[in-house]
Amino acid sequence: CGIVGYIGFREAYPIVIKGLKRLEYRGYDSAGILLYDGADLKVSKTKGKVADLEEKASTKITTNGTIGMGHTRWATHGVPNDLNSHPHVSNSGDLTIIHNGIIENYAPLKKELINRGYTFSSDTDSEVLINLIEDVQKKDKLKLGKAVQVALNQVVGAYAICVFDKKKPNEIIAARLGSPLAIGVGEGEFFIASDASPFLEYTSNAIYLEDEQMAIVRLHKPLKIRKIKDDSLVDPYIQELQMNLEQIEKGGYDHFMLKEIYEQPSVIKDTYRGRLHVNNGIIQMAGIEDNLEKFLNAERILIIACGTSWHAGLVAEYIIEEFARISVEVEYASEFRYRNPIITNKDVVIAISQSGETADTLAAIKLAKENGAFVFGVCNVVGSSISRETHAGAYTHAGPEIGVASTKAFTTQITVLTMIALRLAKAKGTMSNTEFHTHLQELELIPEKVTETLALSEVIAKEIAAIYKEVPNCLYLGRGYNFPVALEGALKLKEISYIHAEGYPAAEMKHGPIALIDEKMPVVVIAPKQGHYDKVVSNIQEIKSRSGKIIAVVSKGDTQVKALADHFIEIPETLDAFTPLLTTIPLQLLSYHIAVMRGCNVDQPRNLAKSVTVE
Ligand code: G6P
Repeated sequence: CGIVGYIGFREAYPIVIKGLKRLEYRGYDSAGILLYDGADLKVSKTKGKVADLEEKASTKITTNGTIGMGHTRWATHGVPNDLNSHPHVSNSGDLTIIHNGIIENYAPLKKELINRGYTFSSDTDSEVLINLIEDVQKKDKLKLGKAVQVALNQVVGAYAICVFDKKKPNEIIAARLGSPLAIGVGEGEFFIASDASPFLEYTSNAIYLEDEQMAIVRLHKPLKIRKIKDDSLVDPYIQELQMNLEQIEKGGYDHFMLKEIYEQPSVIKDTYRGRLHVNNGIIQMAGIEDNLEKFLNAERILIIACGTSWHAGLVAEYIIEEFARISVEVEYASEFRYRNPIITNKDVVIAISQSGETADTLAAIKLAKENGAFVFGVCNVVGSSISRETHAGAYTHAGPEIGVASTKAFTTQITVLTMIALRLAKAKGTMSNTEFHTHLQELELIPEKVTETLALSEVIAKEIAAIYKEVPNCLYLGRGYNFPVALEGALKLKEISYIHAEGYPAAEMKHGPIALIDEKMPVVVIAPKQGHYDKVVSNIQEIKSRSGKIIAVVSKGDTQVKALADHFIEIPETLDAFTPLLTTIPLQLLSYHIAVMRGCNVDQPRNLAKSVTVE
């Protein structure tokens, strides 16, 4: 879910609406807004997107309030409908809350409140929280900030909240545990949001609340930050934001996803800039240099992640084992955290996360740390919870990724992980100097090869997407470094076009999926010249003899696969381990074009969210 709050001298309505649109990547099942115009509280909420809210609110909300809060929701408790949308108002009608996260012990709290005469109009845990705050405030005659604090100490779960009391309309109380919250500090105004994007055009000064901190945000008064547990004051640390507005706008592309696909050449370069020094023959990454011994002494490397980041982890497993000869295991964070895994201080854990906020990944990191492992983060969002929770890390410099289906984050994660593998190989002497140098040189050339691959977009749209856009199923096959790419290609298609797709190691096909193959089944086969080319050719023959339709991703100049395939996409040649950086590109484009042709909402596919801060 996404949160925006404003208190200051400007009209709050446009700030909150625009801010919510920028945060829609965090969820878009329903949306709501509250405005205070000096006398009255106006609340409008609806199932659907922020645009639906805008339509609804325009008749109900006059735009003359300088205090406002808004919410865009990804449903956890209660179906997405108008009633379950935020803000939620307390029984007295004075207090309002917007909440991101889950209150796990809401049921007993609700029961207790019902016994005390409270009534509820929604199924949400958030309505329980605001009434708990009201109950505490009334019972003990507390100031709002204190009441919020006392209530939060009774709550188990995760939250980022903003609370407003119309009896005391000069302040908003914000608090976080497990869900991010940034406060923009302007002249005579404050912004509160799930990330800094809603207030970038107003201020570049931001404070990121830490877990278990609350902020008392008051007009014309200094901001106060307190620890929720013991009430102690914390010095606000104001940082200067580096992000700019242009980075989060579409820049002429029809969709964020397309823009992000096209940004890959430049962001891969940004990711290796200053780290890859081809002329000197070195790779230098501060987080690795400072902790080199930890990596070299590691008995194994354990990679934990979710979704697309997990796929990047699988590619890294192959690359690190091949280059640096360190044993690597890759796990879903959600499985790892609950299965009592064996983990010791001889393990190095690499946690991969675009957002740096994924709840399961964060919990897995905490567990690994408790067991003595050294935890290294590979995140995209600077200052995110995971980047702060880890012992060290390396950022992927992909810039803000707004499209819910991850693209540039994936290729930059692979770039970072490849550099780590190379650096470790160099230190361990598991790769010859010549080979090492060849890899550095080739990595530097990847951005231009990605650019070359992107030029195939139109052909992919016309000659492949247009033909297969209505299929119900699709199979993706790859081997070696390109097995994870097959998984990622299938995930992209599922996510944005709602076509059922599966990724498989090409040779595993014969143990099941081959039963699905007939003349209606398209099979995307990743078959670059390097790697296990001959084996993949045999797999293609197996599909062909069962009349499957073959869409092959091949290296330039290929003849063998081309002769067998119904369609082929030619990518530039590169080293085996680097092929995922190129083979992924046509698969991203194929999903994109199919989704657009099917009229799907590419940037905000149904039921998904970009940043999953609930488990
Ligand atoms: C969500 C997103 C995916 C992403 C996954 C992990 O499911 O929709 O695109 O891969 O979370 O997110 P992270 O931010 O940890 O990489």
